Amino acid sequence: MNNLDSENHIRGKSVYLDDIPEVKGTLHAAVFGSPVAHGRILKLDISKAESLAGVEKVFTFKDIPGENEIGGIIADEPLFACDSVHFSGQAVALVVADCEHTARKAVSLIELVTEPLGVITDPRVAKDKGELLFPPRTFRLGNITGAWDRCDHVFEGKTDTGAQEHLYIETQGAYALPADNNSLKVYSSTQGPTAVQKTIARVLRIPMNHIEVDVARLGGGFGGKEDQATGFGVMVALAAHLLQRPVKLALHRIDDIRMTGKRHPYSADFRIGLSSDLKIIAFQATLYQNGGAATDLSPAILERTLFHSTNAYFIPNTEITVYSCRTNLPPNTAFRGFGAPQGMFVIESAIAKAASELNITARQIQYANLLNENDEFQYGQIAKDTRIRQCYDTLLKRHNIEKIAEEISVFNSSSHTVKRGLALMPVCFGISFTNTTMNQARALVHIYQDGSIGISTGAIEMGQGVNTKLAQVAAAVFSVSTDRVKMESTNTTRVANTSPTAASSGADLNGNALLIACNGLLKRLKIVAAKMCECSDNDVKIENELILKNGISTGITWQQLIHKAFLTRISLTENGHYSTPYIYFDKTKEKGHPFAYHVYGAAAVTVTLDCIRGMYTIDQALIVHDFGSSLNPVIDKGQIEGGLMQGIGWMTMEEVSYNNDGRLLSNSLSTYKVPDIYSAPKFVDIHALETEGPELAIMKSKAVGEPPFMYGIGAYFALQNAIKAFNKGYVLDFDAPLTPEKVLMRLYT
Ligand code: MTE
Ligand code: HPA
Ligand code: MOS
Repeated sequence: MNNLDSENHIRGKSVYLDDIPEVKGTLHAAVFGSPVAHGRILKLDISKAESLAGVEKVFTFKDIPGENEIGGIIADEPLFACDSVHFSGQAVALVVADCEHTARKAVSLIELVTEPLGVITDPRVAKDKGELLFPPRTFRLGNITGAWDRCDHVFEGKTDTGAQEHLYIETQGAYALPADNNSLKVYSSTQGPTAVQKTIARVLRIPMNHIEVDVARLGGGFGGKEDQATGFGVMVALAAHLLQRPVKLALHRIDDIRMTGKRHPYSADFRIGLSSDLKIIAFQATLYQNGGAATDLSPAILERTLFHSTNAYFIPNTEITVYSCRTNLPPNTAFRGFGAPQGMFVIESAIAKAASELNITARQIQYANLLNENDEFQYGQIAKDTRIRQCYDTLLKRHNIEKIAEEISVFNSSSHTVKRGLALMPVCFGISFTNTTMNQARALVHIYQDGSIGISTGAIEMGQGVNTKLAQVAAAVFSVSTDRVKMESTNTTRVANTSPTAASSGADLNGNALLIACNGLLKRLKIVAAKMCECSDNDVKIENELILKNGISTGITWQQLIHKAFLTRISLTENGHYSTPYIYFDKTKEKGHPFAYHVYGAAAVTVTLDCIRGMYTIDQALIVHDFGSSLNPVIDKGQIEGGLMQGIGWMTMEEVSYNNDGRLLSNSLSTYKVPDIYSAPKFVDIHALETEGPELAIMKSKAVGEPPFMYGIGAYFALQNAIKAFNKGYVLDFDAPLTPEKVLMRLYT
C-alpha cells in the first residue's frame, strides 16, 4: 500500500504551515538574530525598527510576562537574549509588521552593540576550559583496567564527525491566533506539539489548557523540529497574545540554517584491545560532544551515544565517557540516529584501525565480535531475539561479498588511477525513548454514524508515513477499508500530554494506543452485532466490512452495524492509552532495560574512486534489514533508502563549517552540498530478513525511521579502503565527512 499522502503531495494539495489560509489582520514576524557569536550586550536599539511604517511592535526579553528561559530538559536557553549573546543567529528580538517584507526590513534597522567575548567552536577546547553543559557520564561493562594485559594487540586513535544540517524542505515556522477566553490557537511545524504548548504556557504565564497546538504535517523534521520548533512557536504566541492579533512566522532558508542547531559534531579518542583470534577484549573511548551554546536535547543525545557506542558487538570490557561541551554555536539538537551514529563511527573506526594494522579486513573483526543471544550490553540489557549474525550472514551469502571483495582486489591490482573499495556496516539500534517516561501515547477514535472513522493520536506525520501505518492499524482491527479512515491533524486539545514523534517510535507508541482504542470499540460493536445476529458475541466477526456469524456472512454491513450501535446508544468513541511495558533505566547505576527491542541490519557499500581528482561514486548499497512483519513494505523501504542517503551525505559530503569567529560559512545550498540523485548508489538492494518481529513492535512491524541512517557509515570506510588501495603509505585517519577535497589530500600524503 502506498503512502496515503502521496497523491496530494504530488498535486501540491497537502497543507503545510505556509498553506494555511491567513486570517484577515494577520501580522508577519521576522527574527533579529545576533550577528556575533559571543558578546556582552552594551546597547540594543530597536527605535528605528519600531518607527518604520507598517511595524506594529518589536518584542524583546522585556516583553515576556513569564519566564524567558526555555529548553526541554534544562531551561537554560533564553527565548530572547538578555544581557549577552552566545551564538551567531541567537534570537534577540522579534519584529511584527503588517507584511513580511516590512518586518524583514525593520530587522535590518535594529542596532546591537556588543563587547566581544572569546569564541569557542571546538569541543575539546571547551572541555579544557571547563565549559561543560552538564556533568559527563560513563557506561561500563566488565573491568577495563585489568583487560589490557590480556590483549594481544592494542591500538589507539582519534576520530571526528561533523555537524549536519537537517534541511527539511519546510523551514521552521508557526502561526498563532488569539482565541476566545484569553486562549491561543497555534499552528506549528513541530515534532513536539506538547513541548510547544507547555513552553508557551511558561513564557506567557497562562495555563496549558488555554493553548491549542495543531499540526497537520511537516515537510520533514528529521529531529530538527523535536525541540527547536518550540522557540519559534513561542515567539508568535507571545506576539499574538500581547497584540491580540494573529501572527505568523516562517523562516527563510538562510535564517533557518543560521539560527538552528544541527547534528552534534563529536571528537573522540579510542583505545581497542584484541586477542590473537580477533575477539575485542577491551574498548575504551572518550567522546567530546559539541553541544553548542545551550543544553537543548544534548543530555538525551549523549545518553544514546553511550548506549550505542559498541554498535552491534559484544565487548566484555568497555568504558565509554562522553562530555557535553559548551561552545558558541547554535545549540545542537536531535538528528536521525540521535547520537548513535556519532558513537558507532568511533567503534567502526577502532575496528578499521585494528584491521589495517593487522593487515586483515575489518569484516573479520566485525564478524568475530557480533552480538550473540543473551550477550550483555554495557547498559545492562540482555540481547534477546538477536538478529545481527543472521543479517550479516545473509548479506555475505546473498551477494557473495567475498567474491565482490576478490573482484575489487583484482580490479585494483590492474587499475592505477581508479580504485574501488568495499566496507560492511552492521547496525544495532535500540527502540524506545531512552527516557522511560516518554514512552507513552494516546489515541482518540470516533466512528461516525455513516461508518467513517476519525483518528487522532500524538503522532506527527513528517513524511515517514506514520499516518498511513496508523490508518492501516485501525482498518485491520475493524476489517474495513483504509478509505473509511481519516487521519486528523495532531492537536493538543484532542490528544494531550504527548511525547514528540521521535526515537523512531511514533508508530509503535501511537499505534499501540490506537490498537487499544480500536479493540475497545470492537468489543462493544461485537456485542451489538451478536444481538443483531441473535448469537453470542464470540460467534460474530467483522470481515471485509461484513458481519459474519460462525464464519458465514449475514449480509449485515459495517455501516448497518454502526447505525444500529448508534440507535441503541452505544458509544462510538474510544480513547486509548499505551505505555511500553518492561522498560526502565537506573541512572545511578547506568544499568537497566531501556529498550523495548533492538533493530538489526547490515549493509555492504562499494565505491569507485577517481584517484586523479578525488571524486568518487557510490556504486552499491546492499542491505539486509530486519523489519519484523512490515506493516507497509513500500514505506519501510522508502525509510531505508532515505536514511541511507542521509547517512552517506553526512559521511561524505555535507560539511558544516564555521570560521573562528563562530560565523557559519556553509550557510546556503551553494556552500553546503547535500546528496542529489547523482550521489546516490547506482544500485541499492534491500532485502528483508524473514522474521516474525517482536510483540512490542506495532503489529510486530519493527520501527524503521532511524536505524538505516547508520548504513551510510559504510561509505566512509569503503572510501577509505579505496584510498588505501592507491596510497599504500596512507595512515588511516577518521575525520568525517570524507569530501572529495579531503580524499585528494589523503591520496597524496
Ligand atoms: N522520514 C521522513 N520522510 N521525514 C522525516 O522527517 N524523520 C526521521 C525518520 N524518518 C523523518 C523520516 C526521524 S529523525 C525519526 S525519529 C522518525 O522518522 C520519526 O518517525 P517514526 O517514529 O514514525 O518512525
Ligand atoms: N530519541 C529521540 N528523541 C528523544 C529521545 C530519544 O531517545 N529522548 C528524548 N528525545
Ligand atoms: Mo528523530 S532524531 O528521534 O526525531
